[in-house]
Amino acid sequence: MKDIQHELDQRRLDARMGGGEKRIASQHAKGKLTARERIELLLDEGSFEEFDMFITHRCTDFGMQEQKPAGDGVVTGWGTVNGRQVYVFSQDFTVLGGSVSATHAKKICKIMDMAIENGAPVIGINDSGGARIQEGVDSLAGYGDVFQRNIEASGVVPQISMIMGPCAGGAVYSPAMTDFIFMVKDSSYMFVTGPDVVKTVTNEVVTAEELGGASTHTRKSSVADAAFENDVEALAEVRRLIDFLPLNNREKAPVRPFFDDPARVEESLDTLIPDNPNQPYDMKELITKVADEGDFYEIQKDFAGNIITGFIRLEGQTVGVVANQPMVLAGVLDIDSARKAARFVRFCDCFEIPILTLVDVPGFLPGTGQEYNGVIKHGAKLLFAYGEATVPKVTVITRKAYGGAYVVMSSKHLRGDINYAWPTAEVAVMGAKGATEIIHRADLGDPEKIAARTAEYEDRFANPFVAAERGFIDEVIMPQSTRRRVARAFAALRNKRAVKPWKKHDNIPL
Ligand code: HXC
Repeated sequence: MKDIQHELDQRRLDARMGGGEKRIASQHAKGKLTARERIELLLDEGSFEEFDMFITHRCTDFGMQEQKPAGDGVVTGWGTVNGRQVYVFSQDFTVLGGSVSATHAKKICKIMDMAIENGAPVIGINDSGGARIQEGVDSLAGYGDVFQRNIEASGVVPQISMIMGPCAGGAVYSPAMTDFIFMVKDSSYMFVTGPDVVKTVTNEVVTAEELGGASTHTRKSSVADAAFENDVEALAEVRRLIDFLPLNNREKAPVRPFFDDPARVEESLDTLIPDNPNQPYDMKELITKVADEGDFYEIQKDFAGNIITGFIRLEGQTVGVVANQPMVLAGVLDIDSARKAARFVRFCDCFEIPILTLVDVPGFLPGTGQEYNGVIKHGAKLLFAYGEATVPKVTVITRKAYGGAYVVMSSKHLRGDINYAWPTAEVAVMGAKGATEIIHRADLGDPEKIAARTAEYEDRFANPFVAAERGFIDEVIMPQSTRRRVARAFAALRNKRAVKPWKKHDNIPL
């Protein structure tokens, strides 16, 4: 037994060394942790159970039979994050550049199958040169098998992708199909074709960082949901995110202990809305003042700032927040903000996370830029997402709720469950000035008449009461009581059951 034990120890030691000391040092020199160091930081101490540590590839071309590193460039298994089960794969760049062979892909597929069957999230740590060039189509087939599992797992278990090194070519499409993508600044990049191919085909000269670095994907393309300074911060933030999420689509998100009175009154909110309707204010102030302990986990904070998305807790329970941000573009809806919010709403609905919508929206952004790029279809995504979502939906209109955007933002008409408005709310087809200039066009030359007509329109519509008289607003609430009212609303909706007609799936405008 002693000899056998010795051999096992030796084999484990070899496997744990990955590509060897030199390559590990080179990984560290790039500011990156190794595949195993990342897993250690991601999971609770000592919780990692590894699978397939000794697997090797079967390739015999290009001298590959000479190098058969144990584990084949990816570390896989399961462990816990604050005591809750997750499955993980972590590509080892020190082993053949973390490239994906048939067996490497098989290891990933194995834990994905287990995650789907056992109902636990998958966290993929990507750091790879892509398809293993020596294996050709076998490697591509492996990717295809991973893609198919990404699709099957979608809406069943949360899938999170960490991009912690190169992720290029078709390989980007596995993370693209997961729920959240996190990148690390200056050490990760994603692109379908790299800078060299771009130069050959389009003559553009661009660095890898400019083409597909963290800043590009969090600010321009919105492919990534957040970027972090280094591996350590990124892994800590994913642990924080996991705490907000259910393990699968048949479980509720965990209820955390909370130390914040759900009936807490926030008098400062009574003066949040400025007297001047065109003056912005920070909607994040409302979010953090409503949330348990002011804790807000923002998703896509660097993209489409005119809408805010993220998670808070109320009475210890996770709530997804979608909120117009008057500080950016006056909080208008446009292509980017509609896409961002629609995806978030759909994530919440998949995983039974109730949605709080905070509304201050002057409408959709006008212009050829928007129309030519399909604001009709993209705006419809958010409309569709809210309308199909059956999770508890609570809405608070703080100020403007104009036109189509009023309907889109989780209105009663899209089966919002409980819709509140502050006394400062204005539910109307458009702002008083614009409305007057259209319906009293003949008076445009007479500023006094126009002012009087505008005041008349304001009196009639710049308030929440017309909507409240019709039952489109359930109650007009004082801003200071928002936390209590919203917390009680979600408490009342905890056993909500919504029945939808049978269909294979919907056909959301894409
Ligand atoms: C086999 C690979 C590899 C690959 C890297 N390596 N990529 N081995 N297949 N795809 C090996 C290198 O030979 C090297 O081995 C080690 O990994 C580290 O690579 P370096 O080049 O020294 O590292 P670095 O300078 O950091 O550059 C990293 C890199 C570069 C930018 C990723 O290696 C590179 O461009 N690789 C090729 C990328 C690529 O074209 N992949 C195919 C994409 S298409 P040694 O022994 O020297 O340490 C694709 C299709 C997926 O993935 C399709 C899905 C449907």
